[in-house]
Amino acid sequence: MEILGIDIGGSGIKGAPVDIKTGKLVSERKRIPTPDPSSPENVATTLIDIVKHFNWTGPVGCGFPAVVHDGEIYTASNIDKNWIGTDAAQLFTKTTGCEFVVINDADAAGVAEMEFGAGKDNQGVVFIITVGTGIGTALFSKGRLVPNTELGHIIMHGMIAERYSSDAVRKNEDLSWKKWSKRFKEYLEEIERLFWPDLIIIGGGASKKPSKFFHYLETKTKIVAAQLQNEAGIIGAAMATKYL
Ligand code: BGC
Repeated sequence: MEILGIDIGGSGIKGAPVDIKTGKLVSERKRIPTPDPSSPENVATTLIDIVKHFNWTGPVGCGFPAVVHDGEIYTASNIDKNWIGTDAAQLFTKTTGCEFVVINDADAAGVAEMEFGAGKDNQGVVFIITVGTGIGTALFSKGRLVPNTELGHIIMHGMIAERYSSDAVRKNEDLSWKKWSKRFKEYLEEIERLFWPDLIIIGGGASKKPSKFFHYLETKTKIVAAQLQNEAGIIGAAMATKYL
């Protein structure tokens, strides 16, 4: 079965039809820069372009960079604040004419990694941590998702962790990979100290360059790079209905 998967991020909105049985993209993905401001109206208009690009009329699964409860957006750390209280699923369904399911973006990436990537067949406690504009987390136990964990927002040095150790912070503060890795390792140690997972899968923008920093991340927990990289958010979003 094919579902259109869309991943809404802080810098880009990406979509492609996905065969949810195989986890493969059916056509090349389409990327449009996230509009500025990233208001509900502007993002909805961008989604019309993506849906039209694929001549899509069927169901759509969509990852969104915030807490999402039954389609409604509860938070807005890296997206326009007007999203808070908006029913994204309803808005996107109305503007595009396609039926939308909306879930947290890290949860979407996690779902894809657990089914087809680095977490395949792992029945233990697994975290997928996406490191990009923010830090997103998805927690699985026995293959089952605990949605909206938001552990990029634990407090470190008086600030939320994603303001201390996200990939955007590395770029904005012009930190060397070594300096940034020290911060990120500290973050991973906090997660370890609180949850003692069996496996941590690192996804998001930073995971495209594991050779730059993985050797700095010594922790007791096994840490691996996401296997589906850029595509995890799209594939997992397409599979969302299965996990809710
Ligand atoms: C948001 C999360 C999101 C993460 C990655 C954080 O700022 O609060 O919901 O998963 O960024 O996009």
